[in-house]
Amino acid sequence: MGNDRQQLKEQIEKRRTFAIISHPDAGKTTLTEKLLLFGGAIRLAGSVKGRKAKKFATSDWMEIEKQRGISVTSSVMEFSYKNYQINILDTPGHQDFSEDTYRTLTAADSAVMLIDAAKGVEPQTIKLFEVCRMRGIPIFTFINKMDRQGKEPLELLEELEEVLGIRSHPMNWPVGMGSDFKGIYDRVHQRLELFSAEEAEGKRTFVEGGEEGVESAAIRDALEPSFYEKLCEDVSLLDIAGDPFDPDKILHGQLTPVFFGSAITNFGVQAFLDEFIELAPHPQPRKSNIGMIDPLETPFSGYIFKIQANMNPAHRDRLAFLRVCSGKFERGMSVHHTRLGKQIKLAQPQQFMAQDRNIIEEAYPGDIIGLFDPGIFQIGDTLCMKGEFQYEKLPDFSPEFFAKVSARNALRHKQFHKGINQLIEEGAIQLYRTFMHGAEELIIGAVGELQFEVFEYRMNAEYGVDLIMQRLPYQFARWVVGDGVTPQQLSSSTSVCVKDGQDRLVVLFENDFAMRWLIDKYPSLSFYKTSYELMEHETNHVK
Ligand code: G4P
Repeated sequence: MGNDRQQLKEQIEKRRTFAIISHPDAGKTTLTEKLLLFGGAIRLAGSVKGRKAKKFATSDWMEIEKQRGISVTSSVMEFSYKNYQINILDTPGHQDFSEDTYRTLTAADSAVMLIDAAKGVEPQTIKLFEVCRMRGIPIFTFINKMDRQGKEPLELLEELEEVLGIRSHPMNWPVGMGSDFKGIYDRVHQRLELFSAEEAEGKRTFVEGGEEGVESAAIRDALEPSFYEKLCEDVSLLDIAGDPFDPDKILHGQLTPVFFGSAITNFGVQAFLDEFIELAPHPQPRKSNIGMIDPLETPFSGYIFKIQANMNPAHRDRLAFLRVCSGKFERGMSVHHTRLGKQIKLAQPQQFMAQDRNIIEEAYPGDIIGLFDPGIFQIGDTLCMKGEFQYEKLPDFSPEFFAKVSARNALRHKQFHKGINQLIEEGAIQLYRTFMHGAEELIIGAVGELQFEVFEYRMNAEYGVDLIMQRLPYQFARWVVGDGVTPQQLSSSTSVCVKDGQDRLVVLFENDFAMRWLIDKYPSLSFYKTSYELMEHETNHVK
């Protein structure tokens, strides 16, 4: 028994489960490939994700994926490195940006924020950052493309603070950039790592600064005087005026350690990875309706954060992605499905490596497993070996695209409702109902535009329903709580008050101005961007 516990403890402590958050084109695919290479995890680094259009023909997951040459689905990649077991949760980023991307972040224990040095903090990064901040998880920053001319490093740190409101601590500091990029000075080990675009990938050259660090003769001799002087100036400025290294603040997401590099040349990636595995947390206790659930003390439990339909078109099945939160998972085990109040057997769990699926025998906290879903799982469901608890509900996020939807052929209304309900369970879209005047209308909302196409396609292909979709000009949804205001007062020519699937009031707005105006007009009301904030409000209220 003692041995099992010790083994479980070791497995938990060596796990690092994280997601990369970035704006499209910052280099996420490139960085992921390089990270996987360090673990020797992938045979062909270029095949991680059906990259661009090259590989999509081999992916038969979804017809729409083939048609467009993009990855609608997302998966998990894992590798081991220096006795650590690392799980990278893939967060769809391009046109396939969706609520799945947000929900995947709830399954991560930390995030790596990847920034293009020339572009700085971009819109999609801001959105993803906000979700991470909401959860208070540690955020590591990798500033990429230093081999190209970009913004000044100090300017980038200021941007982190001004745009995202997070303080930073550079773990290393670049010397030059673009065609003058010389390398990075590692503040932890007081050494210079020299950049060479021509060198074989993975070969690293260090100049050790020893106790004197940047002041040492070795480092002085390694750089041209102008670069050396600039480095000394910068490093002393950081030492004096910068935020000190504070592991506790890092763990609470209040301070981000910053690394510089160039993913494409595999430079700075290993320097990053080596620090990351030391600083990033292993799976921690998670909130549930009966208090915090400890990964070591509680027998197997986990929750479903994503449901993927029809990955294999030969079977009309769905795959539910479960994040293991506590205890050891073993194939064939019987677990309690809290929402249904039923015992179920987990017979054929899948593990993911890019697009290959393997049957797994065991898994530990921090791991992600795929479960065949004959229609019994919903996003947010908890499975547990002992007891009947429920992990914290997953939030709904404010959609940015809206459309009124109905069946073209009224006779197919049964299939229409069945399809809509199932796709909502999967979390593909959100549904709202008008309720104030006339016949009820259904409005669907999605975080990414492509979700509408996928929705329309699947309603037709899987439920035989042809849709009439009329795009609506709304851009924001806010859950609203408070007294003294009628739903009519919340509706105007640029806003409408509707109800969500759980009968909560939601206001949809056409633009930021309309939203600000209404928020200012009714100070007694609270407006929430995610149902998570709403739930927090409710728990605080109850206390
Ligand atoms: P993403 O997944 O975040 O969307 O980005 P991806 O890795 O696909 O990279 C986007 C583009 O940026 C790619 O160029 C990639 O080669 C380039 N890139 C990534 N890291 C670096 C870097 O460190 N330095 C430089 N200079 N470029 C980098 P592309 O031309 O769009 O695609 P490809 O033809 O190279 O695949």
